[in-house]
Amino acid sequence: MEPLNFMKLLENSINEPGLGWTLCFIGEDQSKKLAELTQELRGEFSQTGDGKEILSGFSYWGIGPTIAWNNACHDRFYLVMKESIESFRYRWSQLHSNRIGDRKYHYVSLGIGTGEKDKSILNLLLNSNPDLIYFPVDMSSEMLRIGVQQAIQETKLKGNHVFPIQIDFSLERNIIELRKLFDEILNNNPVIFSLLGNTLANFQRDTELLQSLSKLMRSDDKFLIEVAMTEDLNEEAAQKATKEYENAKSFREFVTSALLQNTDLHIDLNSVSFEGYVETDRAILIKILYRNLTGKKIDVMLPDRSVINFEDRDTIRLYLTRKYTSSGIHKCISDSNLIVVDSIHTLLEPRFKNGFGMALILVSPDTSSINKNSQIADNIWSKR
Ligand SMILES: C[S@@+](CC[C@H](N)C(=O)[O-])C[C@H]1O[C@@H](n2cnc3c(N)ncnc32)[C@H](O)[C@@H]1O
Repeated sequence: MEPLNFMKLLENSINEPGLGWTLCFIGEDQSKKLAELTQELRGEFSQTGDGKEILSGFSYWGIGPTIAWNNACHDRFYLVMKESIESFRYRWSQLHSNRIGDRKYHYVSLGIGTGEKDKSILNLLLNSNPDLIYFPVDMSSEMLRIGVQQAIQETKLKGNHVFPIQIDFSLERNIIELRKLFDEILNNNPVIFSLLGNTLANFQRDTELLQSLSKLMRSDDKFLIEVAMTEDLNEEAAQKATKEYENAKSFREFVTSALLQNTDLHIDLNSVSFEGYVETDRAILIKILYRNLTGKKIDVMLPDRSVINFEDRDTIRLYLTRKYTSSGIHKCISDSNLIVVDSIHTLLEPRFKNGFGMALILVSPDTSSINKNSQIADNIWSKR
């Protein structure tokens, strides 16, 4: 086939829902990822979720967790994600009219999920930039496939302007490769990056993650971050926060789906526990654990067919999440050399009066710190 015909094929059909084919760049050796997941499940005995664990990214990795995540996002009994998705279009359109206007941006979505939020973002950005290029980035190629089909449905986006990329964005070497790719394809055109749905909170070292992701940005770029927020930071608020997740069966099914997919453990949804802690001055931290409550040791087979002893009361940490205080998230942002351009704070369940909500925050690189750093560098050089 002539290259030109191939481009036409991409433009007209690939990535569109009708054909059922999706183009995807796989940037990660999947067998290495499986070995990593296996290794994390071999951790020490711990009653507090600090031994065996499933790291963020792996919770969503593969078709089982992807389907379970989609179910949880649309569950009427697990309102956090459902409301965050449903209210997103309105919150984004406010930020867009305040701060983006008709500037032309390309769009990079870090963690596509169901793709519904990306659809709202693309719709507004395409109005001013019909040549926009969309890079959804995710660890799960299955999530990319489902998310892209949703995100580009009924948008004016051309099929050959969609580049799904499967990588683990928590690895710094992947961020460096990603930036090189953008340099090749986008020249110097500005980009909006996004990290939505409280994804930041899933990482043990959340500030380090944001610091690493911020290296993707050039001075004209913007970053849209969505996080869960809390007004109060005390034991009582931490206990209330766990309730939000505890009561939804679909969420229990999602957090155990990686275990179901990758081990032969017989899953008991009542063995999932939700533990809330106060992270001093910054956030409520919620650890979601699978605890062996059978009263005896269980043999659990891992993907390489090795067997671990899952002792009575031992735990596997399934998921981490947080609700940030305003000062907590602002510190995380400023420690990443970013500054807040605008933000919208919404109480998701005002009738519960629990002080929990979502913040959609638009940030840009702190050029004063870039200048400061280059001044320091200049001084060092001038003294030589
Ligand atoms: C909480 S969901 C948010 C989805 C979507 N942005 C939203 O707000 O509805 C997190 C998404 O990030 C992806 N993800 C999590 N950790 C990742 C990692 N380390 N590398 C790449 N993708 C990751 C997951 O597969 C999932 O699609």
